[in-house]
Amino acid sequence: SDSVLIAPSILSADYLRLSDELEQVSSADLIHFDVMDGHFVPNLTFGPDMLRAVAAASGLPVDAHLMVSNPDEVTEKYLDAGASIVSFHYEAALHAHRLVQLIKDRGAKASIALNPATPVSVLEPILDDLDMVLVMSVNPGFGGQTFIESTLRKLRRLRRMCDEHGVSPLVEVDGGISARNVAEVTASGANVFVAGSAVFGSADRAAAIADIRANAVA
Ligand code: DX5
Ligand code: ZN
Repeated sequence: SDSVLIAPSILSADYLRLSDELEQVSSADLIHFDVMDGHFVPNLTFGPDMLRAVAAASGLPVDAHLMVSNPDEVTEKYLDAGASIVSFHYEAALHAHRLVQLIKDRGAKASIALNPATPVSVLEPILDDLDMVLVMSVNPGFGGQTFIESTLRKLRRLRRMCDEHGVSPLVEVDGGISARNVAEVTASGANVFVAGSAVFGSADRAAAIADIRANAVA
């Protein structure tokens, strides 16, 4: 289908006005929730209690992106807290298959995230089990970075792999997405767009979301 999902990343929101920020992005489809542990990435953000509060305040499904070294240990806490989608990093998981089953058994959507230098081919054995693949288009850790162009080739390769397998997981792209580049990212096969600075860096968050959405389906 032609429909796309827009997932504002609250990493770039004003934390002291978070409930107001959530209200301002209510036209989005998902809330992207960046968990950083200061170890897998050199930055530290939110934990499961914050996720629970965000889920309750927003009403939109929470898309948890776990940038942590120990997803095998902590994923369950984010399921308990009410995440609707959980992405863990391939590079950090010891038991990716087991984690995917856990997430799905708990009624959430299971997703694996790939760093820019990790090839999509690593997903070959598990692709058929995934509800979503998260392709990082910047090195994880910070908002406001520049989109890495080679991501487009990687997205096309992932699309071919999915066609070969006869599966169609959601394909999420995260990092440096804006209304200016979202058309070519859509054309390369993505359909879920994370946007941090492009949304929360705009005075009118709803307009920024509408702008990304309009360009994605164009
Ligand atoms: C980066 C995070 C992203 C970040 C994107 O590690 O995973 O979700 O918020 O921010 P922008 O859209 O500003 O690149
Ligand atoms: Zn993210």
